[in-house]
Amino acid sequence: MTQQKPVAWVTGGTGGIGSSICRELADAGYQVVAGYNNPDKAKTWLETQKSDGYDNIDIAGIDLTDFEACQNGVKAIEDQHGPIAVLVNCAGITKDGTLKKMSADQWNVVIDTNLNSVFNTCRSVIESMLEQGYGRIINISSINGRKGQFGQVNYSAAKAGMHGLTMALAQETATKGITVNTISPGYIATDMIMKIPEKVREAIRETIPMKRYGTPEEIGRLVNFLASKDNGFITGANIDINGGQFMG
Ligand code: CAA
Repeated sequence: MTQQKPVAWVTGGTGGIGSSICRELADAGYQVVAGYNNPDKAKTWLETQKSDGYDNIDIAGIDLTDFEACQNGVKAIEDQHGPIAVLVNCAGITKDGTLKKMSADQWNVVIDTNLNSVFNTCRSVIESMLEQGYGRIINISSINGRKGQFGQVNYSAAKAGMHGLTMALAQETATKGITVNTISPGYIATDMIMKIPEKVREAIRETIPMKRYGTPEEIGRLVNFLASKDNGFITGANIDINGGQFMG
């Protein structure tokens, strides 16, 4: 009988950074389940993964802002693939604007999608990880949660909040074989960055000591490192990966 692969659930798995994380983890031997929001995009995305030889990547459309949907979604993943060993919270959106122009909707949707979702996913997997006596939770935050960013009070607050959750949960699970860590990427070459007006984007790039954006693959490799069984002594940490743009 073939041994079951450990399962990794990557929320926002079909996105720019998420796709690289999924492929890194699939290469490392996990059964990967990529969370998605847009079914049409996800279907095409999965076809691409399969045609590239990734038979150990699947998709799951779960509304992360809905607690019950997360609970049911996790149950469905575990029924199909087995217990989740690795949770990567990578789903996130931006709704940029200065505070004086920001609507309550712009605030709420970013807090719901980027922060409340992390409670929903962690709460949904934690009992199973405690039963396994093993788990890796990796929260993809942002440089802008570390330093704040003009035009992003909503996003900066949500991303800073993620690391608060990381540190608290890391303490609660430290003796249970579960590690919880944050990765704070800087500006990575994805569609999200391309939404920033070009002039603003170029000005930001100039502030990066390495004078370049990061690549999604660089984030994927770091996730894989933290997900490894061998790295069980790192917990509650934040790892900056930003080309030197912020050194805190
Ligand atoms: N610092 C100080 N002042 C700034 C500034 C900055 N960084 N950026 C703009 N301003 C100034 C402008 O010069 C202008 O000044 P005046 O009014 O004196 O002319 C004023 O602020 C413009 O303010 P408005 O409220 O009118 O802003 P706007 O509607 O023109 O646009 C914005 C504001 C949409 C936030 C735009 O600046 C923007 O898109 N900024 C980029 C935000 C950003 O970095 N987002 C990151 C997205 S990627 C991501 O989030 C991934 C990740 O994790 C890194």
